Amino acid sequence: MSDETTSPDDLFHEMAEQGHTAAKLDPRAKPVLTVEDLRMYFPVKAPGLVRRTVGHVQAVDGISFQVPEGGSLGLVGESGCGKSTTGRLITRLYKPTSGSMQFGGRDLATLSKRELKPVRRDVQMIFQDPYTSLNPRHTVGSIVGAPLAVHDIVPKNQIMPRVKELLEVVGLNPEHYNRYPNEFSGGQRQRIGIARALTLNPRLLVADEPVSALDVSIQAQVINLLQDLQKEFDIAFLFIAHDLAVVRHFCPEIAVMYLGKIVEIADRETLYATPHHPYTQALLSAVPDVKQAAVGGRRERIMLQGDVPSPVNPPSGCRFRTRCHLAQDICAKVEPPLLQIGPRHKVACHFAGELGKAPERPVTTGLLGVDDRGNPDASSTEPVDVELMTGSGYEDRWFDVGSRTVVSG
Ligand SMILES: Nc1ncnc2c1ncn2[C@@H]1O[C@H](COP(=O)(O)OP(=O)(O)OP(=O)(O)O)[C@@H](O)[C@H]1O
Ligand code: SF4
Ligand SMILES: [Mg+2]
Repeated sequence: MSDETTSPDDLFHEMAEQGHTAAKLDPRAKPVLTVEDLRMYFPVKAPGLVRRTVGHVQAVDGISFQVPEGGSLGLVGESGCGKSTTGRLITRLYKPTSGSMQFGGRDLATLSKRELKPVRRDVQMIFQDPYTSLNPRHTVGSIVGAPLAVHDIVPKNQIMPRVKELLEVVGLNPEHYNRYPNEFSGGQRQRIGIARALTLNPRLLVADEPVSALDVSIQAQVINLLQDLQKEFDIAFLFIAHDLAVVRHFCPEIAVMYLGKIVEIADRETLYATPHHPYTQALLSAVPDVKQAAVGGRRERIMLQGDVPSPVNPPSGCRFRTRCHLAQDICAKVEPPLLQIGPRHKVACHFAGELGKAPERPVTTGLLGVDDRGNPDASSTEPVDVELMTGSGYEDRWFDVGSRTVVSG
């Protein structure tokens, strides 16, 4: 059943009725995954017989973040910004161009195929499209049981009982293990995909837009299921989505990506109440029930101008500058660092500020040793705290954009 008129408001109303409160942040949780300066450049080949490399798609370009143990980080941004590539790097479907991904004391980025095999059990992926991600010629039993067979975890005769148990956990009839994917609805298929991802008891699940192919009413059910599973099995999530409404419910912490970079990352309350990046502010203005600060007494949708530039040849300096209403000279010359500006808040913008309260002068000049136009400035103070601009986690001090000083928590 498709219901075109159901809004995100209705979706959350439905969730609330089912008794699921938004997931909470545990600031003391240790990271299960630490990603540092991760890059993925896909070669662009010239047509013809000699397929020379003529450029690179900079799909992911130097991102750093952490996913807390048993917690969930949301990853949001427009189509093509590098979300799926990030997920595929973490699950090592791709080998990164550079950077590191620390998980369980090992760097996933550098592990060989053989070394990866045991780690794959701990890091699983749920795919966006429940129609193409399941092999139509295999029964549900063999799809969900395949990882057990591949990893040789339980004796053959115990695979089917385990499969039935998993089907029950995700709310499917265990007696349907002999059926084929086309005998199930979209929501049920996604439950099969979730059961498959759970088969090996993962510690981290990368969920790549797990509900965006589903009707809104089914989306709520699947999100609730994921939340139940997270609590029950203590699984950490990297939850990829277009929809800021869905991420808000599931993720106590959210990173916003634009053209291969993270432009803002914060705990849910901070990101939704006081976003400091013009791109986040524009994305949030499209979410109907977010009480974002009003400009001039009005709360308007901020329309993004123009198209997303090509990741083969991204704009110099700040990648968002070609669509940013605040852009000035410095934005074309100097890339803004992802700077910690609060206890759990980082932003990459020379003019970081609350909606409608952007500073007139760039806030980053003293830190970067440049003048207001982005030219080197010998009289400027030395860069203060490199950690505040490069770390994957949070420091207990940060750069206060109002006073332009480093303050302690
Ligand atoms: N295997 C590949 N080879 C070359 N380019 C790729 C490959 N995979 C992705 N890209 C490019 O990398 C960029 C990021 O793609 P990605 O799929 O990660 O975006 P996304 O944020 O997941 O988008 P969507 O919301 O549409 O799923 C895009 O420009 C895409 O065309
Ligand atoms: S750095 Fe400049 S162009 Fe980039 S988001 Fe900030 S104001 Fe806009
Ligand atoms: Mg994608």
